[in-house]
Order: sequence, then C-alpha cells, then structure tokens
Amino acid sequence: MRTSLVFAVVTLIASGPALADSALELAQGKACLVCHSVEGISQAPSFKSIANKYRELPREESRLVSTVMWGSPTYGGYHWGTTKMPTPGARVRVTQSEATQLVEWILSLK
Ligand code: HEC
Repeated sequence: MRTSLVFAVVTLIASGPALADSALELAQGKACLVCHSVEGISQAPSFKSIANKYRELPREESRLVSTVMWGSPTYGGYHWGTTKMPTPGARVRVTQSEATQLVEWILSLK
C-alpha cells in the first residue's frame, strides 16, 4: 500500500516534464520548429506568444487543432501577420491526436 502510494506520487511528479519533452520531440519531428520557436523571434509567432494570446480564450483550442492540421483558415480566424500556417501538402502531416497534443502543450507554455 505504502509502496504503491509512493509510486503514484513519483509517477505524478515525473509525468509533467516527460509530457513536455515528448511534445517538444513531436514538434521537432513534425518540423514545426522550422518556422516556430518555443520563445524568441522567428518567421512564425513563438509558441509562448501563442500561449499568452490564447490564455484567456480556452474555447480557441479546437480551432487551433484544426489550424495545426489543415493550415490557417483562408477566411476569418486570427492572423499574426501576412504569412500563414501552411496546408498539410506543404509540410509534414499531423494527425488529430498529434495536433491536440501539440496545441495542449503550446497552450500550457508560460
Ligand atoms: C512553414 C512554416 C510553418 C510551419 C512548418 C508550422 N507553422 Fe505554425 N504558423 C506559421 C505561421 C506563419 C503562423 C501565423 C499564421 C497566421 O497568422 O495566420 C503560424 C501559426 C500557428 C499557430 C497559431 C494559429 C492561430 O490561429 O493563432 C499555432 C498553434 C501553430 N502555428 C502551431 C504549429 C505546429 C504545432 C506546427 C507543427 C505541426 C506548425 N505550427 C508548423 C508557420 C508555420
């Protein structure tokens, strides 16, 4: 009993950073970091600035998942500048569960 409780606590503590590491690896594997950086300036908004913008707007999550999968909407949607998130044909494809994992990770950045 006592051992399993200790194990549960250790797992809980360990899973936070591990999740972030695997999302970062996923972002690297999907070439997101060719255009984005986690923080700092690059040709696309940094993931931290995206997190800051949407912090007060939790309902944006599903729209962001679809942008990550399909690219920026042609009409409507928020645009950071004149460049857009490319369509799947122009970059590595992302499944819905991968996009969800990436968006949750991006929105959790501080
Ligand atoms: C070819 C460059 C490029 C690649 C590769 C790229 N992005 Fe983007 N991304 C952009 C640009 C440019 C914008 C700003 C789009 C806009 O203002 O409409 C953007 C915007 C975003 C946004 C914010 C969208 C919004 O509506 O505010 C998210 C989230 C995002 N990207 C995540 C990702 C993830 C995750 C990946 C990897 C699967 C990725 N991007 C790959 C260029 C890129």
